[in-house]
Amino acid sequence: MPSLVGKEVAPIGYGTMRMTWNPKPPSQEVCFETLNTALELGANFWNAGELYGTPGYNSLHLLNEYFTKHPENAEKIVLSVKGGLKKGELTPDGSETNIRRSVDECLRLLDGKKKIDIFECARQDPNYSVESTIKVLAECVKEGKIGAIGLSEVDAETIRRAHKVHPIAAVEVEMSLWSTDILENDVAKTCAELQIPVIAYSPLGRGALAGTVTSLADIPEGDFRSHMSRFQEENFKYNLKLINEVKDLATRKGVAPAQIALAWIISLSNKPGMPTIIPIPGGTTKDKVVQNMGAVEPLTDSEFAEVEAILKEHPVVGARY
Ligand SMILES: NC(=O)c1ccc[n+]([C@@H]2O[C@H](COP(=O)([O-])OP(=O)(O)OC[C@H]3O[C@@H](n4cnc5c(N)ncnc54)[C@H](OP(=O)(O)O)[C@@H]3O)[C@@H](O)[C@H]2O)c1
Repeated sequence: MPSLVGKEVAPIGYGTMRMTWNPKPPSQEVCFETLNTALELGANFWNAGELYGTPGYNSLHLLNEYFTKHPENAEKIVLSVKGGLKKGELTPDGSETNIRRSVDECLRLLDGKKKIDIFECARQDPNYSVESTIKVLAECVKEGKIGAIGLSEVDAETIRRAHKVHPIAAVEVEMSLWSTDILENDVAKTCAELQIPVIAYSPLGRGALAGTVTSLADIPEGDFRSHMSRFQEENFKYNLKLINEVKDLATRKGVAPAQIALAWIISLSNKPGMPTIIPIPGGTTKDKVVQNMGAVEPLTDSEFAEVEAILKEHPVVGARY
């Protein structure tokens, strides 16, 4: 079992983003059922963010409500929270005032119902050094406001510099069959060397690898994927080839495509020289979580080789953002 901040966690975690950052958010009842299912199936690492929603209602509001109803679950969960952006905007602000504002706001919203086990700035503000960001967060650790420090969307050099200032608990980066950059840009290698777990965000390629987006018409109106390069008509027609190959392998194996996508990450995590990699799929309904948590078995060597061949044959087209 992987470990995060000294606690054993399941090989697959859970990302809460789409429960509160979604043109059609699910009801509180559906969210609670999904969160309970995730925990029952062992997913005890949850990912949240001040930016997932609005200042009036975001992940932290939802988690406050959830842990108010289920206080017995608070200690069971390792919670990672992203913040550090300007309030209500998607712009990083790495000033000490804003980082402290963000930490204090997340604590205020959680209202003691759940601790912040890991806090990370969603993006490093280019106007501030990572050393200054981590110094502020290290003070927050000392003050008992946050348990540990993570990083999000950073390069290998930033990880090394940050880790010199204060131990880094986790590095959150996009990682999926659609986004293999960390295998080529030294992020995976650096995390393995420094023994920092990688948190693989958007591990289902924002749903595409689950095989349910068969044409762009499947993307609901107002969904931010419709602005993403990989989901544009001219790119998506190429990207569908990879998706269909994964679907085909899933059919032959008798599993769901999402399970292949997740099992590939877990298999990679078990390879020599690789860091621990914990995928955090979203999925706002119980059935999706049940399916995703059914992927804990790594792929066989021949399945792994087949996936590698698919990746070589059909590299993704379009930028991540
Ligand atoms: N650090 C960062 O910058 C960053 C950026 C993005 C995301 N994240 C984190 O990563 C987590 C996951 O990322 P994500 O939500 O972008 O992408 P994802 O997990 O790759 O895909 C989520 C999409 O897949 C659908 N889905 C999930 N399981 C499915 C299944 N078994 N069958 C069919 N469809 C399924 C979801 O449906 P519904 O949700 O509609 O039910 C949603 O549309 C987020 O919750 C967030 O915590 C971090």
